[in-house]
Amino acid sequence: MDQDTLLLTVAVLGGTGKEGKGLAYRWAKAGYQVLIGSRTPEKAITAAGEIIELLEGLGSVVGMSNQEAAQHANIAVLSVPYAAHRATLESVKDSLQGKLLIDVTVPLVPPKVSKVQMPPAGSAAQEAKEIVGDGVEVVAAFQTVSYELLLGEAAVACDVLVTGTSKNARKEALKLVEAAGLVGWDAGPIENSVVVEGLTSVLININKQYGSTHAGIRITSVDRPA
Ligand SMILES: NC(=O)c1ccc[n+]([C@@H]2O[C@H](COP(=O)([O-])OP(=O)(O)OC[C@H]3O[C@@H](n4cnc5c(N)ncnc54)[C@H](OP(=O)(O)O)[C@@H]3O)[C@@H](O)[C@H]2O)c1
Repeated sequence: MDQDTLLLTVAVLGGTGKEGKGLAYRWAKAGYQVLIGSRTPEKAITAAGEIIELLEGLGSVVGMSNQEAAQHANIAVLSVPYAAHRATLESVKDSLQGKLLIDVTVPLVPPKVSKVQMPPAGSAAQEAKEIVGDGVEVVAAFQTVSYELLLGEAAVACDVLVTGTSKNARKEALKLVEAAGLVGWDAGPIENSVVVEGLTSVLININKQYGSTHAGIRITSVDRPA
């Protein structure tokens, strides 16, 4: 990592959950300072301890409330069920001003999670942008990567499509994709997140029909990063 990257602190809001913990583990392993956020600080402290254990003590992971994590981070990653999306964003939006928010949330509507059901804003990421306002750059990423792959040690074959409010925001998020050991692609403006978020239901469908637990997507016919 370059010197600028080393100084970055990444908060994973909802990092006590499956996907958030997987991402936090990968970034801490890559050398980032990671803050785990939760509605319950004690739960975040326990999750941080579990990640440090996975890392055999080598890594910087600290647990705290979502609000504290958002306040102390340069980049915040939101990884909560869609039902908790608006309330979590409302609770941290003041602390996010001037920062980058990476939204991992998929707007699944149980019980029909294998059917695409987008919110009126277009996508969860677009809804996030409406909630946090113009002072926050919003990127959507990681929706098609299963937590099981993130917590595993094997190379991950599926790609990450990154959409967001500016080219620069997408570039910053792509650095985190690479740090997590994945190949990412700039997939354009945040309006395109509707397609990427929708792919999750498509992949859930494929998992159910073909007996997998972590189907993914991969871009072909483009030179892949070395
Ligand atoms: N699981 C995957 O493989 C996967 C893959 C790609 C994308 N995603 C997306 O990533 C997001 C997180 O998925 P996940 O599987 O990690 O979810 P999860 O484990 O069910 O929940 C993540 C965290 O969200 C918080 N949370 C749960 N219910 C809440 C509520 N009602 N109100 C406020 N906070 C609540 C909890 O944190 P605290 O209790 O600590 O506050 C929980 O630990 C989802 O939108 C999911 O669709 C998941």
